[in-house]
Amino acid sequence: MSSDPNDRMRKRDLVRPMTTSTAAKRVFVKSYGCQMNVYDAERMTDVLDREGYKATDTFETADLIILNTCHIREKAADKVYSELGRLRELKKTRLEAGSDLKIVVAGCVAQAEGQDILRRAPAVDLVVGPQSYQNLPELLAKTTKKRTVDTEFPVDDKFKSLPSPSHDRAKARGVSAFVTIQEGCDKFCTFCVVPYTRGSEYSRPVVEVIDEVKRLADVGVREVTLLGQNVNAYHGLDDKGRSTSLGQLLSHVSEISGIERIRYTTSHPLEMDENLANAHRDIPEVMPYLHLPVQSGSDKILEAMNRRHKIHDYIDAITMMRNKRPDIAFSSDFIVGFPGETEEDFAATISLVEQVGFASAYTFKYSIRPGTPASEMDNQIPEEIKDRRLHALQALIAKQQRAYQDRMVGQTLDVLVERKGKHPGQMAGKSPHLLAVAFEAPAAYIGHIVKVRITDSVTNSLVGTLVN
Ligand code: SAH
Ligand code: SF4
Ligand code: F3S
Repeated sequence: MSSDPNDRMRKRDLVRPMTTSTAAKRVFVKSYGCQMNVYDAERMTDVLDREGYKATDTFETADLIILNTCHIREKAADKVYSELGRLRELKKTRLEAGSDLKIVVAGCVAQAEGQDILRRAPAVDLVVGPQSYQNLPELLAKTTKKRTVDTEFPVDDKFKSLPSPSHDRAKARGVSAFVTIQEGCDKFCTFCVVPYTRGSEYSRPVVEVIDEVKRLADVGVREVTLLGQNVNAYHGLDDKGRSTSLGQLLSHVSEISGIERIRYTTSHPLEMDENLANAHRDIPEVMPYLHLPVQSGSDKILEAMNRRHKIHDYIDAITMMRNKRPDIAFSSDFIVGFPGETEEDFAATISLVEQVGFASAYTFKYSIRPGTPASEMDNQIPEEIKDRRLHALQALIAKQQRAYQDRMVGQTLDVLVERKGKHPGQMAGKSPHLLAVAFEAPAAYIGHIVKVRITDSVTNSLVGTLVN
């Protein structure tokens, strides 16, 4: 059974009293996909806050629902249409009761399918692509007259036009925050839709990033994760118009008072440079963790994927990072069943995983995406072979992940306390290597880095006791 609270939606819950001019309107942004969508959801909420919309987290309590969608795999894109089917019923019930509900499709499906969404889903009022969120108020106003689509890539910088959150809202979001510093991709891996849904690579200027992180630090944020589809290709301009690398940016961010931890994701093996490796060695705030997707352990498959590097380049990058920061933990993304992948190619992936040793990894079955070069390759792999390879790879990674976690038992770790834990009196936080840790402590410790002695390793988290 699904744990999604919206699945428990009942007809009697569907009618929300008509919004009067005095009652605040409510918006629910439901996000799918990557962390960049989580960041965008916050920006959309901020822009709508100025229009009098308060955030809510259920369909039933919302006057405006924004599905912030993901197009990366077929399953992700399909989810949107099943959700829209349910929302159509909700909208119908609302209209019958004399109140209204606006439905917006945002995110990467919006960008990829545009007008088609209006055709397929009659309940949708607005389709808005990721580069146009600053126009949300005007676009919503337009929908009172007609159903609307905006999937332009505007020339003006959307980041500049999107407002920062209010002090209270920023504070409520917690001590760890995402900041998009780079968006879009020019790499065109043959399986991937991102270059089409997010456009070409763009790096935000250094001051803009620094100002945003400073504002977050002022409301109690202690950890920032800098986001980008190719975050290590970051080359934003500084105030003198000079191109700045990710390594240099990390150094600037580390100087911001209050910021104690910095992470970044997602990196591309082709863009790993020594400057970034040095940042891990020299800057204590830069956490010893690197998400470095490799996709496959076979040079032949990497070439067919247009990843533009070989396995030895990946190993070189891992070795360079380990030389600078011996305790660094690695995670990765893998695709199994890419067109033409033989048993031998898959065996090479398994042996790469064995060679590197990952603290964590995401594994996916290759999914045909319309419009991408790989979708037209004729040596597609049958579903049952993909399933078998996926299970084998997942079993190996689960074993490595658990072994990595288990090695922490008996050690004392620095834990950033993020929130209350599952059980009364318990707090939850993360270790430098991104392991979840639960332990007993007062709630006043949220936002502090404390020492926790690890006593136990359970599924997906560590358990420990506070030291001093
Ligand atoms: N920019 C990042 C990845 C962004 S997409 C990089 O280059 O590594 C996140 C992950 O989704 C990818 O790393 C890949 O493993 C997976 N993915 C992307 N397209 C896919 C597809 N068509 N089928 C299956 N997995 C896919
Ligand atoms: Fe997609 Fe490749 Fe760009 Fe990553 S680098 S976003 S996988 S095209
Ligand atoms: Fe999905 Fe778009 Fe992110 S396709 S993974 S939401 S960039």
